[in-house]
Amino acid sequence: MGKPKISVTRQIPQAGIDLIEAEGFDLRYNNEDLALTREELLDYVKGAGGIVTMLHDRVDVELIEAAKGIQVFSNYAVGFNNIDLDACRKRGIRVTNTPEVLTVATADLAMTLLLATARRVVETDVFLREGKWEGWSPMLFHGQDVTGKTLGIIGPGRIGQAVAERAAHGFKMRILFTCGDDPPPPVAWQESVGARGVDLDTLLAESDFASIHTPLNEKTHHLIGNRELGLMKRTAILINTARGPIVDEKALVEALKSRTIGGAGLDVFEEEPKICPGLTDLPNSVLLPHLGSATVQTRTDMATLAARNLIAVLKGEEPPRAVV
Ligand code: DGY
Repeated sequence: MGKPKISVTRQIPQAGIDLIEAEGFDLRYNNEDLALTREELLDYVKGAGGIVTMLHDRVDVELIEAAKGIQVFSNYAVGFNNIDLDACRKRGIRVTNTPEVLTVATADLAMTLLLATARRVVETDVFLREGKWEGWSPMLFHGQDVTGKTLGIIGPGRIGQAVAERAAHGFKMRILFTCGDDPPPPVAWQESVGARGVDLDTLLAESDFASIHTPLNEKTHHLIGNRELGLMKRTAILINTARGPIVDEKALVEALKSRTIGGAGLDVFEEEPKICPGLTDLPNSVLLPHLGSATVQTRTDMATLAARNLIAVLKGEEPPRAVV
C-alpha cells in the first residue's frame, strides 16, 4: 500500500509543506491564498488520509462522511469551533490544533487593539491623512487612559493570561477575570498579576476594558449581547480577538452608536468576512481582518505544528497537540 494521501486546503507557510513532502506523502495542495468552495472542499477530502484544514473550513457530518478513510483533521488554528468533534470522536478520527505557538502574537494584538481603541489611533490617522489637521490643539482627540485602569479578562486561558500579564506588568492595570464553568487559572498566576476572579456581570460592570479570550461553543455564543453591553461603563472598551459569534454584533453596533459603551476593538466578526452593517461607519471601533496570529514567525510555527500533528497521526504516533 502506498503512502496516505494528504490534502492542504489553503496556502500556508512553506515550512509546513516541506515537512509533509519530506515524508513522501502524496500531497494535494491548494497553493493559493483563496478558500476552497464547499464543493472543492468535499472533493479535497475524498481519499485523503489526513487533511490540514483552515478555521473557515466547516468540518461537519457531511464532510466527514465524504472523507472515507480519513484519520486526522489537522486544524491550522488554536480554535476548533469549525469542527464537529463528537462526529469525529464517534468515528475514531483524530483532531489536532495549534495552541501555544500563537499565544504571544495574539496577546500582542489584543493589547494593540486595546491601545489603538483607547487612543483613537485609526480615527486620528484617517483625520491626518485627509488633510484635516490644522496643528496642535489642547482639545484635539482626547482618548482614554490605559495605565492603572481595570481590565476584565473573559476566558483566562493561555492567551487571556498573556494579555493580563502585559496589562498588569506593562501598564499597571488591575486585572479581573471570569472563567464560567472552566477551572480557574493557577493561584500562582493569579497572584503574579494580582488578578481577582468574579462573575461576568461584575467583570463587565467594573472593567474599563473587557477582553474576550474564551473559545466559541454553545455556551459562549452571544455571551455578550444587549443585556451585557448595558452593564458596561459608558466609557468602557470591548476587545475581541477570540471568535466573532461570542458577541452579538448587531447589539454591539447599537451600543457603539448610542454610546452605551465607549468603543470596541475587534479582530473577529460574526460572519467573516462580512461585517455587520453600520460597524465600519463607527469611529469608536477599530476593526482588523482576523490577524491575531499573523506574524511571519507565528504563522510559520503554526504550519510546522499542523504538519507535525498530521504526520504523527499518520505514522500511528500521538500527535503533539491533540483535541480528539
Ligand atoms: C486561531 O488560531 O484560532 C486564530 O483565530 C487564527 O489565527
